[in-house]
Amino acid sequence: MKFDIITIFPDFFVGPLSHGMVFQAQKRGLIEIRVHDLRDFTSDRHKTVDDRPFGGGPGMVLKPEPLFRAIRKIQAEKTTTSQKVILLTPQGKRFEQQLATQMSTLNEALLICGRYEGVDERVSECLVDEEISIGDYVLSGGELAACVFVDAVTRLLPGVLNNSSSAVNESFTTLESARISHSNPGIPPAFLLDYPHYTRPEDFEGTCVPEVLLSGDHKRIERWRRKRALEKTLKNRPDLLQYATLSEDDKQLLG
Ligand code: ADE
Repeated sequence: MKFDIITIFPDFFVGPLSHGMVFQAQKRGLIEIRVHDLRDFTSDRHKTVDDRPFGGGPGMVLKPEPLFRAIRKIQAEKTTTSQKVILLTPQGKRFEQQLATQMSTLNEALLICGRYEGVDERVSECLVDEEISIGDYVLSGGELAACVFVDAVTRLLPGVLNNSSSAVNESFTTLESARISHSNPGIPPAFLLDYPHYTRPEDFEGTCVPEVLLSGDHKRIERWRRKRALEKTLKNRPDLLQYATLSEDDKQLLG
């Protein structure tokens, strides 16, 4: 998959994209990331990217001309049929695992990092396919959100994670969304948070690994994990349980 990122802070991405899984995926040729400086698409001496909002009000708005130029140039270079232009903005659709899974089916994603008070609306009207927000809070720009997008999508791509089951088993992933279900888009898949994990030592400063995990009894371990996942979900995200189909056994585990 190819990611193009348009930003006024290209150096911002040097750190986040040069570590761990995203870095390895680039090295192995599974993803390609290109970062474009919006100022390279300006035509004035001062490389102006923003201007005051019509109608008044505080802050500055990213001007349409440099963004149109940048997006059109990148689009002209596209090599595949499935490219989406995505604006990172707090006004966007909430980025959740299901949306990450959908995005992982694309060949190319062009990410636009918003800044200041916003982006001239004509960019969205004319060129953007999807507006995405990573959560209900306002960041100072879309750069962090773009990093979140690249990370969450990359780890879902075939061959990126060594253990193909580790992306499937965890919080926020169901079998349906891992297999990319486009049916019933209005109904969120049933999510449970992940169960707790432990590694060595068995006894750390007097706090011990639960005995069941050392028992080798896989049925008991599976049941214990299910119970802990249900309890954690009830405690931290009770809203998720309304979509889950709980078996009689699950209800019993929850007490
Ligand atoms: N830009 C500012 N806040 C944002 C958010 N929550 N998600 C995506 N882009 C943003």
